[in-house]
Amino acid sequence: MKQFFKAVQISENTYWVGAIDWNVKNFHGYTTNRGTTYNAFLILDEKVTLIDTVKAPFYDELMARISSVIDPEKIDYIISNHSEPDHSGALERVVNAVKPEKVFASPMGQKTLKAYFGEDFQVETMKTGDTLNIGKNTIAAVETKMVHWPDSMVTYATNEKVLFSQDAFGMHLATSKLFSDENDRSILNYEVKKYFANILLHLSPQVAATIAALPKLNLDIQVIAPDHGPLWRTQDEMNYIVNLYKELTEQQAGKKAVVFYNTMWTSTAKMAAALSDGLRDGNLEVKLIDLGGSDRSEVITEVFDSAIVCAGAPTMNNQVYPAMADILTYVKGLRPKNKIGFAFGSFGWSGEGHKFIQNTMADMKFELPFEPYSCKYMPTEKNLEEIFNIGKSLAELVNNK
Ligand code: FEO
Repeated sequence: MKQFFKAVQISENTYWVGAIDWNVKNFHGYTTNRGTTYNAFLILDEKVTLIDTVKAPFYDELMARISSVIDPEKIDYIISNHSEPDHSGALERVVNAVKPEKVFASPMGQKTLKAYFGEDFQVETMKTGDTLNIGKNTIAAVETKMVHWPDSMVTYATNEKVLFSQDAFGMHLATSKLFSDENDRSILNYEVKKYFANILLHLSPQVAATIAALPKLNLDIQVIAPDHGPLWRTQDEMNYIVNLYKELTEQQAGKKAVVFYNTMWTSTAKMAAALSDGLRDGNLEVKLIDLGGSDRSEVITEVFDSAIVCAGAPTMNNQVYPAMADILTYVKGLRPKNKIGFAFGSFGWSGEGHKFIQNTMADMKFELPFEPYSCKYMPTEKNLEEIFNIGKSLAELVNNK
């Protein structure tokens, strides 16, 4: 049955033909409460060119949007800016359906696509500095390795003045409003930060290098079109996202603290509450997160945003409480910088949990002004007063900086 999905014009001859995934709540472990989009773009030129595809289950939506402006069999070229399956999952099926003259990707992209679709999958390469004439437009390629995979590249269409930036400058947000200026700024701000914290944080140097390199190319950009979330048009909008990205890569944490914890019989919860109230009493904004009701995507977003990172967990079977190990593994892999840490937790008889947290924070090169704090079975009033005062002292460290 014919599907009725329409393309949306984004410049003179370029159309958004992507898909909106309203219902995805887990994107390879990243909790996407607001869903996402898989953006793809069609340039109607002498050589009709499709930039990226979509996640495999959204093939029909992509083809329907393309069909709303042109017969898909008229596509001559497909350019894969990024071969992660949220953008290439539908590629093999699209190639089989439209039989394009050529498919292009970066040299690493060629390798990845062949790994996914087999050595016989035909892909030509575009590396930094290469151009492709498609009629009125020339497509220029710039490899952006590790933003977000080794294969990643961005492409620019000269006549359309659109920069197709794949994962860079994107966010996970399902919205019917295609452009950033049509959406709520506070939501965009949070989702960009969350995306950066969960996907790009450990790649900050590579992102910073990409941002530094772009102006040197002297591109006249009128639209930045990422592969997720809204597109950035107008100079103000593009300045906003590029400057926000610059700030994020610098990892200058705000005057904030986050306290995340697990608890078995409320002992560590009581310690976390006293600690967070000490931080608050020291005039520092603080967020308290019980890992029993939160997920790692939210925790890393708060860690990224905070100068002080406090983590507390009880000991279980001579180990740290397992959900804390999960979170710390995730945080460690994303390599947040410029953090002051504090570890705490309760125990019954052996007491390894808080030490594990302290050691992990030390591995992450957190500044650790206090020894890990523990209490046996249940915190006493004195314990709670001491941990409250540690919170206050931690706040002073940040406020006096
Ligand atoms: Fe949106 Fe790295 O894929």
